[in-house]
Amino acid sequence: MRLSLRFVLPLLLVLAAIAYGVAPLVDRLTLGWFVRDLDMRSALIANTIQEPLQEQLAAGRKAKTGEFFNRITQDERLFAVGYCAAPASPVLASRSLPAQIRCNDLERWQGQGATAHLLASAQGPLHVAVKRMPSEAAPEGQLVLVHDMSFVTRRSKETQQYVFYAFMALGAIISLVTVIIAQLSWRGWMAGMHSLLRGEGLLRRPVLDALPEFKPIERDLQRLVRELEATTRARDESQITWTPEALRTILHTELRGEDVIVVSNREPYIHQRRGERIEVQRPASGLVTALEPIMRACSGTWVAHGSGSADREVVDKSDCVAVPPESPAYQLRRVWLTPEEEAGYYYGFANEGLWPLCHIAHVRPTFRSGDWAQYVAVNRKFAQAVVRQAKTKNPVVLVQDYHLALLPKMIRDELPDATIITFWHIPWPNPESFAICPWREDILAGMLGSSILGFHTQFHCNNFVDTVDRFLEARVDRESFNVSFGGKSTAVQRYPISIAWPPEPEMMAQDVAQCRTSVRELNDLPAEHKLGVGVDRLDYTKGIVERFRAIEQLLELNPHWIGRFTFVQIAAPTRSGIDEYQHHEAQVRAMATRINTRFERQGPPPIVLKVEHHEPRAVYAYFRAADLCFVSSLHDGMNLVAKEFIAARDDERGVLVLSEFTGAARELPEALIVNPYDADQCAAALHLALTMPEAEQRDRMRLMRGLVAEYNVFRWAGRMLLDAAAMRRRSRLASQKGRARL
Ligand code: G6P
Repeated sequence: MRLSLRFVLPLLLVLAAIAYGVAPLVDRLTLGWFVRDLDMRSALIANTIQEPLQEQLAAGRKAKTGEFFNRITQDERLFAVGYCAAPASPVLASRSLPAQIRCNDLERWQGQGATAHLLASAQGPLHVAVKRMPSEAAPEGQLVLVHDMSFVTRRSKETQQYVFYAFMALGAIISLVTVIIAQLSWRGWMAGMHSLLRGEGLLRRPVLDALPEFKPIERDLQRLVRELEATTRARDESQITWTPEALRTILHTELRGEDVIVVSNREPYIHQRRGERIEVQRPASGLVTALEPIMRACSGTWVAHGSGSADREVVDKSDCVAVPPESPAYQLRRVWLTPEEEAGYYYGFANEGLWPLCHIAHVRPTFRSGDWAQYVAVNRKFAQAVVRQAKTKNPVVLVQDYHLALLPKMIRDELPDATIITFWHIPWPNPESFAICPWREDILAGMLGSSILGFHTQFHCNNFVDTVDRFLEARVDRESFNVSFGGKSTAVQRYPISIAWPPEPEMMAQDVAQCRTSVRELNDLPAEHKLGVGVDRLDYTKGIVERFRAIEQLLELNPHWIGRFTFVQIAAPTRSGIDEYQHHEAQVRAMATRINTRFERQGPPPIVLKVEHHEPRAVYAYFRAADLCFVSSLHDGMNLVAKEFIAARDDERGVLVLSEFTGAARELPEALIVNPYDADQCAAALHLALTMPEAEQRDRMRLMRGLVAEYNVFRWAGRMLLDAAAMRRRSRLASQKGRARL
């Protein structure tokens, strides 16, 4: 039924077109042509007979003239000829001249401006041409030439027939083609498109297999569809709800489930031997806090230094172990370091050199060439591990932090097509400060092996670009923040790091009231005692000494708080092999003791110092129990403790006192922002925090929670991965263009 309709419909359309458009048009055209032909013919005849006719008229031989006219009209077309000497005179004509042609009509016909007059007669249509033919005897003389036009009607009919047949044939061909296309193409193409969109290919498999030459076209089409999908997909990150699921979706759609490798010095899970048992520890590291939820989401591989005493006991033969231990989601690949390597690379160059170099915390960096040699060797060891771990020749590698500054270039040398995203978790100093590093050019060149280089703040990006500009022969584009060096370009971008949101439910399992009670009981504090907390690694950059000084100042200026306020400082031991850290620990301990002794009256001490490792759950209990949290870093890339405190306070209470020298201070203006070097200002902020009305606490906390929720760690990672995906697309297009030019 549908088939016959497809056939008949075009035919009907063609018929209608012939009846209402083509036939009348053909009629009009042919009539026009023939009239023009007859005009010309009449002019020709008039010219030819002019002379003999005038001679005969001059001789007054009328009978002869009639004969002459009769002879001429033997021509098949020329129907009649006549001559009028004047309008009033009788017409001198051949026998065939129709009676309705009279001399006094001629003037009128000529006056109408037409070249000829068409006349209907019993014989059929006639063409009447009037030509002036003046002579001395008859200055108004006119010649009338009448042609038979019945042949025009005949020919027009014939032409119409031809046109009709031609159009019918055309209509039939169109109908046939329509039916064939409909049959062959419609279903075929639709099925092809469906399978293409399903990612199976344009043509059905058997057809494709039979036509291998279509395969490149199919591949190109598929890629085109994917590119189109990717470019039209909403890239507006603010429209995405940033969850682990969103991150997984980005990996599957934007990066098509690519091979993702994270590489850092510190491992996310440390296996420690405690007698007969193996304990799993989670280190105090902002980097680990941020990356662990991402790795859980994207199930890649994490390459890190195996530093635990039982780490070797739990790995398989490729040095891998699945983590997290309770519900494995990704692979941890451990790199083993000798004590000499650890001493030179980790304690030496990274933590006595680069760490104080990048943190303006007034501790002099120490650079030793032996440490540098170990740093280079260990970076190479990590690079080899990454290359071995890569499943493809273009993995996405996320290089973390200052321990691995040389790694990007080393990986780039081995895997030129890899997308390398390096994130520098600590500040980047100004060029003058960085200049004291004896291997500054090597460090910069190593980092510029990255495709994308991320810092927490724009200020650090600016410092880095200024440093490159100062020390390398590189092209720095300050508009796009791109650095071109050694034929390779690196995008320098700001990606403020954050934490997982919402926090894991187990962190919030105990409600705030329970936390307040249990933490106070644990520390022998009365139920209504005011509590402040600080949670840091025992690192000189964290400003713990300055913090204690501020507490001392508070108690000095507001003795009301003595015995009513206690500050619990959780300080995770760190890098204790380094002298500066040992001195620092001693200094912190001594200071806590001195302040406690100074304000030792009845009741609890002003400072409780806990130099020991705390698991995240215990840390969250302190956050939830506290009235305030004090972050007083002297210089900090971001500081995630500030964000964790906010995340822990789902009761919208508690006050954050925050150093202006943290990256976090730029995002959290609702905190009480302080200069940790200014003890008076800090003491005033502590007092303000302890006396802040609950409504104001709620208003501030609500705004800060909104920000951390929105700018969580999934967004941090997602933005980098989206940028990496866009970069990969661009370079694919560029290489295609390059091929096309060849
Ligand atoms: C900082 C660094 C991290 C490091 C962490 C802990 O946050 O940016 O890279 O892991 O400190 O230091 P550690 O030396 O114990 O790894």
